[in-house]
Amino acid sequence: MTDNRTGKTYEVPIEDGNVIRAAALREIKESAEDFGLMSYDPALVNTASCRSRVTFIDGDKGILRYRGYPIEQLAEKSNYLETAYLIVKGELPDRKHFAAWEQNIKIHTMVHESIKSFMDGFRYDAHPMGMLLGTVGAMSTFYPDAKNIFDLESRRLQTRRLIGKMPTVAAWAFRHSRGLPYVYPDNDLSYTGNFLSMLFKMTEIQYKPNPVLERALDILFILHADHEQNCSANAMRAVGSSHPDPYCATAAAIAALYGPLHGGANEAAIRMLMEIGSKDKIPAMIKDVKAGERLLQGFGHRIYKNYDPRAKILKKMAAEVFEVTGRNPLIDIAVELERIALEDEYFIKRKLYPNVDFYSGIIYQAMGFPMEMFPVLFAIPRTSGWLAQWAEMVRDPEQKIARPRQIYTGEVVRNWIPVNDRPAPTMREDAVSEAI
Ligand code: CMC
Repeated sequence: MTDNRTGKTYEVPIEDGNVIRAAALREIKESAEDFGLMSYDPALVNTASCRSRVTFIDGDKGILRYRGYPIEQLAEKSNYLETAYLIVKGELPDRKHFAAWEQNIKIHTMVHESIKSFMDGFRYDAHPMGMLLGTVGAMSTFYPDAKNIFDLESRRLQTRRLIGKMPTVAAWAFRHSRGLPYVYPDNDLSYTGNFLSMLFKMTEIQYKPNPVLERALDILFILHADHEQNCSANAMRAVGSSHPDPYCATAAAIAALYGPLHGGANEAAIRMLMEIGSKDKIPAMIKDVKAGERLLQGFGHRIYKNYDPRAKILKKMAAEVFEVTGRNPLIDIAVELERIALEDEYFIKRKLYPNVDFYSGIIYQAMGFPMEMFPVLFAIPRTSGWLAQWAEMVRDPEQKIARPRQIYTGEVVRNWIPVNDRPAPTMREDAVSEAI
């Protein structure tokens, strides 16, 4: 590299095929006291922040693999708990190890009765994702042993607890919003069967999940289990890097997932399809999107510049679910919207394709979930991915507390002025609100 300011040249090693270490730039200085160069990368669009062995994505080819296994094979042949084992532990379990893992998760499906009481304290119309976020954060106070993050046994225990309890808290958030009594876990059912029971059981002795819907939910959980360094995984790692317990870090990840650009997109996508209402209104929507007035929800991705492989699986799966639930008429609008968008120069040029959130909401809605539950349904399976990412971060000797640099653009230095001598403050561009 040649520094044009000084004409000096530097050798910066290229590692892993295409990576330079940002810290190497610090050697490039104008003078000995100089800080050295740094890189500026808002939103980390071209910065690898870690090494990871969990998930591989080739965004140009539309490839997604967990621990080397193609998502299509896992969705067809595996189940969510087995996939969670793969993600967390790195290998697919044999029969014996799967049985032990399933048992270890199931013994943690119950939650402390106090958790039930404080969930009861949420307002009747609380958003279930907000309830999940608050409750998982509060779980930190129930498990002080979770602070031992460098202890392998403690990490294992918290991992089982979190994967086990997530469906319970999620289902109770739903029941709360409906004013229905909370249903305790039924460990005779599968992971997703039990979740459906905690959501929908009424007065029957044992809830019998519909096998097609149980399997569909299991596939949805597999597809959402991990997605490498997305916004919530990055939040899990960044917050985890200051070494709080994993409940705090998971609460941060849930908060990141809540946003409409991430896990909230499936809710936003379905609202958009409902707003469109009929096929003849699609061109008007596309026009608004192209004019930059709004986003086409469920379209586009930071990494995929091709069809999201998860969306492909879901589009196919929708038909099987509709056999049981009846057809969700929004599917026709979605398919037509996709067809028109994929032929349009705006979307072609920007390589915007449907992502996982485009079709998942339609399926969730057909299965009877209210829209507010959609991001919650994303958070349950993503917990295994977050925990795998967190465990990697904790064990990685190259990781430190996440602490980026900034380019300071504020005042250089000013002298304090007594209050009577100050001019009226003018409205600043960076003020948080006009009231300040
Ligand atoms: N509708 C219309 N235009 C779009 C869209 C969209 N959904 N997504 C991106 N663009 C345009 C964007 O305006 C920009 O255009 P230009 O070059 O003229 O400025 C160009 O495409 C590049 O987009 P970008 O904003 O630089 O892309 P990004 O990588 O920063 O954002 C994204 C990725 C997913 C946040 C974005 O595509 C988006 O907001 N999509 C809608 C929300 C959504 O579906 N989110 C779910 C993501 S998948 C599930 C998950 O992992 O959470």
